[in-house]
Amino acid sequence: MNQNNHKKQLLEQLYEPYKNSKKLLVQGGSNRIIFGEGNSDANIMFIGEAPGAKEDELLRPFVGRSGKLLNKILQEAETKREEVFITNIVKVRPPNNRKPFPDELQKGRDLLFKQIQIIQPKVICTLGASALEGLLNKQVMISKLRGTFIELKEVLVLPTFHPAYILRDPRKLSILTEDIFRAAHKAGK
Ligand code: URA
Repeated sequence: MNQNNHKKQLLEQLYEPYKNSKKLLVQGGSNRIIFGEGNSDANIMFIGEAPGAKEDELLRPFVGRSGKLLNKILQEAETKREEVFITNIVKVRPPNNRKPFPDELQKGRDLLFKQIQIIQPKVICTLGASALEGLLNKQVMISKLRGTFIELKEVLVLPTFHPAYILRDPRKLSILTEDIFRAAHKAGK
């Protein structure tokens, strides 16, 4: 069995006990769990906040407007979406897309770390404050931390803005693009 299939199997085994449990659910949110998708042996992982309406409908991460922007930047960075692994710190859609509460980020942490342990990416690119807060387990100022690599258990984490923020303030598009280019380059692109 090649490494990719082996890791895929490990991820499936990891997800199994969560499927019929309430462990990953958030207050008033969807009960449709979106674990993540992409290459189980990826060099780079992208972590967002939580699924939105389109994601909840299609049961895939980053397939709405933010996802389209992410896809476009990945394409510009000559990185195929299938090459990377994409997930969220919170695996279900919160009601009206509200920001996840700190205890909800905490709940997502355990599974996220297990996903990272299996995939073993070289680089993790966190999109927005929630993903970084969940990963580091502390409150952060994303505008201060973005663009600087942080070493976390032998993985390089590059925090950047959330694509949804860029859709609201397109003047920051070049910053998000540059960060994703740097993350992809560090991961071996
Ligand atoms: N925003 C996120 O943070 N994650 C998604 O999957 C989609 C939009």
